[in-house]
Amino acid sequence: MNNIQTLLAHRQPGRALEQAFYNDADIFQTDLETIHYREWLFAIPACELEKAGSYVTYNVGTYRVIIVRGADDQIRAFHNTCRHRGSVICKAAKGHAPKLVCPYHQWTYELDGSLLWARDMGPEFDPKQHGLKTVHCRELAGLVYICLAEEAPDFDTFANTARPYLEPHDLGNAKVAFESTIVENGNWKLVWENNRECYHCGGNHPSLCRTFPDDPAITGIEGGETPAEMQAHFDRCEAAGLPSQFYLHDDGQYRLARMPLKEGAESYTLDAKSAVRRWLGRAPFADAGALLKFHYPTTWNHFLADHSIVFRVTPVSPTETEVTTKWLVNKDAVEGVDYDLKRLTEVWMATNDEDRQVVEDNQQGINSPAYVPGPYSQTQESGVIQFVEWYCATLSKRLAPEAVAAE
Ligand code: FES
Ligand SMILES: [Fe+2]
Repeated sequence: MNNIQTLLAHRQPGRALEQAFYNDADIFQTDLETIHYREWLFAIPACELEKAGSYVTYNVGTYRVIIVRGADDQIRAFHNTCRHRGSVICKAAKGHAPKLVCPYHQWTYELDGSLLWARDMGPEFDPKQHGLKTVHCRELAGLVYICLAEEAPDFDTFANTARPYLEPHDLGNAKVAFESTIVENGNWKLVWENNRECYHCGGNHPSLCRTFPDDPAITGIEGGETPAEMQAHFDRCEAAGLPSQFYLHDDGQYRLARMPLKEGAESYTLDAKSAVRRWLGRAPFADAGALLKFHYPTTWNHFLADHSIVFRVTPVSPTETEVTTKWLVNKDAVEGVDYDLKRLTEVWMATNDEDRQVVEDNQQGINSPAYVPGPYSQTQESGVIQFVEWYCATLSKRLAPEAVAAE
């Protein structure tokens, strides 16, 4: 048993994790190797790749990935590592290129990863053996997921469950109205723990609380009966053709539920009215609430009647986490006519910054030798307990001797 397994074995359920889980370099590396390098990761909304040759790069741990739309319209992902001497090929965060050309010696790859041209490599050289290495890539209702593992775990069960919830939001006809990337000085699990409860909302999120109920039933997990008001909301939305019922997968990795906003609220705006006049998707009424989806370890999303917001969580170091937020609107919505960018984004821009602050405060306090893991609130923090259980179970499973032996 290594140190991490010992810590896991002695963990007290219902309490925060030991300090090392939040700041130790070895545990951070284990997190990457057992979770981020193995699971399906939400990467980008597909609409970001507008046409053939549009690409986005994404870095996860030490991996460098290119996600690109091919001439056949298909989205593929490749390791951003040249098959010659290994240079990074695409250096920009995003761009457009008819071919992928390595900046070092100009080896030139097709958008499907095959090597098209390499100068003076001699008669024995076989370009077919030197195409870009692929990364598993799947598009689900306008959301692009990748998996860095040699063999990817099952994606279809998740896709088949999530697709009916997502399709009415028509993300294929979206555009990114705005995106923001911040780095929070906190471990990635603290970012998630904070996301999975609204115990902190009343004290920290004045603008979000105008529309988002801080009812623990909304961020938490269902324990027993669904509250009658929530069930009435699910029923009303489902009768109008929007899958809404709470769904948490058995292994706890993902959850889908269309939650009501505060009475009469339509969107995350300061006046609670819609932010976008031309809606994204086919919601039958403005107060359809927010389809809340999370999929560990990289994404939580809010799909509203008028627009959608996708969040991506990427670990950078033991105590740094990148959080990228993208606001998606109907591709035909015109800024300044159908929506005002400030009004669309101000609530979550403020909320993200408030969350960054509490996560950083949390990390600072945990770094102290005086830190001892305290108890989670069973009523307010069931979502945090659920996340931590998923994390510990996933780590334990992957670190178990049988799992190591099988690899
Ligand atoms: S390293 Fe890419 S062409 Fe040489
Ligand atoms: Fe928050």
